[in-house]
Amino acid sequence: MKAIELRNKYLKFFESKGHKIISGAPLIPENDPTVLFTTAGMHPLVPYLTGEEHPEGKRLVDYQKCLRTDDIDEVGDNRHLTFFEMLGNWSLGDYFKQDSIRWSYEFLEKELGIDMNRISVTCFAGDEDAPRDEEAAKVWEECGIPKERIYFYPKKENWWGPAGETGPCGPDTEIFLDTGAPKCSEHCEPRCDCGKYVEIWNNVFMQYHKTADGKFLPLAQKNVDTGMGLERMTFLLQGKKDVFETELFMPIITCVQEKSKNPNPESLRIIADHMRAAALLICDGVVPSNIGQGYILRRLIRRAIRHMRKIEFNTDEIVSVCEALIEGLKEMYPELEQNAQEIMAQIKKEKNRFMNTLVNGEKEFVKITNRLKQENIDLIDGKTVFRLYDTFGFPPEVTGELAKENGFKIDMEGFKKCFEEHQEKSRQGAEGVFKGGLADHSEITTAYHTATHLILESLQRILGDHVMQKGSNITAERIRFDFSNPEKVSREVLDQVENMVNEQIDKGLNVTWQEMSLEDARKYGAKGVFDDKYGQVVKVYTIEGFSKEICGGPHVKNTNELKHIKIVKEEAVSSGVRRIKAKFVD
Ligand code: ALA
Repeated sequence: MKAIELRNKYLKFFESKGHKIISGAPLIPENDPTVLFTTAGMHPLVPYLTGEEHPEGKRLVDYQKCLRTDDIDEVGDNRHLTFFEMLGNWSLGDYFKQDSIRWSYEFLEKELGIDMNRISVTCFAGDEDAPRDEEAAKVWEECGIPKERIYFYPKKENWWGPAGETGPCGPDTEIFLDTGAPKCSEHCEPRCDCGKYVEIWNNVFMQYHKTADGKFLPLAQKNVDTGMGLERMTFLLQGKKDVFETELFMPIITCVQEKSKNPNPESLRIIADHMRAAALLICDGVVPSNIGQGYILRRLIRRAIRHMRKIEFNTDEIVSVCEALIEGLKEMYPELEQNAQEIMAQIKKEKNRFMNTLVNGEKEFVKITNRLKQENIDLIDGKTVFRLYDTFGFPPEVTGELAKENGFKIDMEGFKKCFEEHQEKSRQGAEGVFKGGLADHSEITTAYHTATHLILESLQRILGDHVMQKGSNITAERIRFDFSNPEKVSREVLDQVENMVNEQIDKGLNVTWQEMSLEDARKYGAKGVFDDKYGQVVKVYTIEGFSKEICGGPHVKNTNELKHIKIVKEEAVSSGVRRIKAKFVD
């Protein structure tokens, strides 16, 4: 079964069980400043898991592009990935453990044809926060999973969430497929890391809310959140050894391997994973840079390039890798073909930048390590790692890998400290590169969010209808707002925009929202840049007499809750896209 068939089967199966198929969100969470990427299918659904009504109802199913950077350095073995796709179904206060488990069983057995004797499951063992999940175990037994293949594990294994510090979470039941490999020891069982058992699906029973002081309070609404890793399930169904042998990676690997003088499996996997992730990030509007998402993109591309050099693949051929990737994956991700030019242009540009710095950086690295060798030191201190990054454009991961190859360690903590000090000094803020997690929507970010609607409308009224939102990123300190415009925006015009926004704030306009079909939203005159990524029914926020925008919220109730804004910076992001930064001023 091909991955695309698996995806379609999943959607159809849950549709037949009363679920509405919704569109996944972009990889870059909109208006959530606390996290760089969408890391799970539930991420875009957090407001609905905590009680807000979803326009499509209480049963939802989708596939979601996800990116996790925690394991970025592990990529290269046969199971870690940065970008992956998660198939998921949700109950928002509707069905619970019974249906969830029974449908999982039915899908695996009937739709995927899996021999259920190969399945083991795990349930939550219980602790002071929540009881042992006998309920889930009983349903599994009723389905036909014998007691000896039902394992009870503590929170560490069988609890999922919250996605950040606080939020919805709960006990889960995880489904494992036995690959048939021999047991690694007498005690080999699903939680063991040897690879015999592969987790294929996680059903989370989200019935708690973790508070900032670490308490688990019952949620008013009991939800189910499930996630199945598409790549993993695909390789298992195809009887392949690992995800890299599937059609999701092979086109990239084959292309690189054919043109490489000295290929090794680890480098091929790193290149395949990183190039795929990079291309999909570019599709969602990210460009390589030194901060935020752009920095992760830069790291991915540069690490892929370093491995291309390592296996003696001519990096001038990087465009052919992009072509193979787009051709091989366009059926799954049509956006790859739509953005083909941009993907190739960005990756080529970044390659050229990197090649220019690489030669100097490598020379410097040799100088540094020669000196350390003389002194019998095997640790490169944080300051030096930072200097290589700051002056020579060497991402610390690249330094780390080079160091490892040459028998050195690097002081990563020291690097982070220098990095943060530097960021503090340059007042740019670390923008969460070393943070993670999903925090609550604070008052200030909500207010900034409303301000972005005022800014977009003002920019369009002043500059013209060609202005489209190209992205926004909000922190507690500022708004960053990207929009299309062919040229630099003068200070004079920025002042006009600022004035128009501030006038609306002074007017005290009501902010309201309604749900409507996408078609009605268009007729109503609502702006929406990502139209086709939304479900059929959308939320439209109206700022009384001023702006109408398709948006998930949240927003303030009246513009008088906002302080005046000041546009503090205007710069280019890429050709035809400008970026402004704005802040509230007292
Ligand atoms: N949110 C759950 C996970 O990511 C389903 O595993």
